[in-house]
Amino acid sequence: MTDHMPDDLSAAGRDVRPFTDELRADHAVVRNIAGEWVLLRHAEVVAAASDHETFSSAVSRHLQVPNGLDGESHTAFRELLDGYFTDAELAPYVPLFEQVAADIVAGLPRGEVVDAVADIGALFAVRAQCGWLGWPAELEDRLLEWMAENHAATRSGDRAWTADVAEDFDEIIRSVVQPRREAGADAPDDLTTRLIGARVDGRELTEPEVVSILRNWTGGDLGSIALCVGVVMAHLAGSPDHLALLARSDDEQIDAIVDEILRIDDPFVSNRRITTCPARIGGAEIPEGARIKLHWTSANRDESVFGPLDSFDPQGHREANLVYGIGKHVCPGRPLATVQLRALVHALLAGTDGVEAAPGEEPEREVSPVGGYRRVPIIVR
Ligand code: HEM
Repeated sequence: MTDHMPDDLSAAGRDVRPFTDELRADHAVVRNIAGEWVLLRHAEVVAAASDHETFSSAVSRHLQVPNGLDGESHTAFRELLDGYFTDAELAPYVPLFEQVAADIVAGLPRGEVVDAVADIGALFAVRAQCGWLGWPAELEDRLLEWMAENHAATRSGDRAWTADVAEDFDEIIRSVVQPRREAGADAPDDLTTRLIGARVDGRELTEPEVVSILRNWTGGDLGSIALCVGVVMAHLAGSPDHLALLARSDDEQIDAIVDEILRIDDPFVSNRRITTCPARIGGAEIPEGARIKLHWTSANRDESVFGPLDSFDPQGHREANLVYGIGKHVCPGRPLATVQLRALVHALLAGTDGVEAAPGEEPEREVSPVGGYRRVPIIVR
């Protein structure tokens, strides 16, 4: 049974969590006003994400490497790209992330209201990613402006504006790729240069492929890291016991706690698929060519898997956590995001006496289709 009912597309002004909590109680699948079939529960989201033959990722007419690819070409790109996210590859960057986080935390005014999304999350995301990719510090302001505009465009739902903003981003990317191509052997020895020189299936990457990969590693991702930081900070400001728990945890436990905070309030809301044949899922008969939404935020709150909505069990919920997806398209950047978020937790623990919610100021939630917070006013002690 599916109902034709609005979901996150028309739920203007609503927080995606309570909205999908209500829908999920009665429906595994709903059809939204755009005609998309939205999978709300854990079992169906996992089933669809794991069946990449029926649920194709080729949802866009634009080249998206690797997220819009299927089959062998996806596998070939993942083999190449996963190589940049191994522990050994990331280890040299960890001191940089720790330093970036420590500097940002040290620079925060004490006893005054700061916004954990803009003053910590966005700044940290941009500096950490620029450091990782070898991009110049002068690009930081331009990227921060771009993130703000991208966010506004996404919120507005205005496709023309979103397309313009995407084009602006490609220009930023070309401004780092072009000089490296021209410099040839004299190009700086950094990740961006290595990617430009990489090969897939025995051939060089095309310019659009390089741009698409870098767009994926930055454009989509700076916003996700900033949103994740906002969610983690809002949670810690409201739960001093969890900050204390972090303080007596080792790194592996810290990662599990951060993932659990993000599971409960997953700001990476959904991804799309398209059916390659008729499919039956969650009691719904879905035709070929149907547009599907895997709703991570909703699936991550499914009471039948994780218990009551407020249950907090970092180790117990680890296996079923879907913050970084599942299946062939599972997030390759997870190890990077994990070491970056861990660096921020380390900086908070080492450089402050804790954080608390700013008195008299409420955090501002993002509203659908965006998750997480727009603004998280906190006081750093
Ligand atoms: C900050 C927290 C992050 C979250 C919550 C997150 C979440 C996700 C999720 C749920 C997917 C699955 C998409 C799908 O099934 O269609 C995904 C895919 C992806 N993520 Fe992340 N991600 C994060 C950080 C990163 C980082 C740091 C990078 C790289 C620098 C990255 C790069 C990618 C790419 C390239 C894909 C597509 C993979 C594919 O299609 O094979 N992500 N991410």
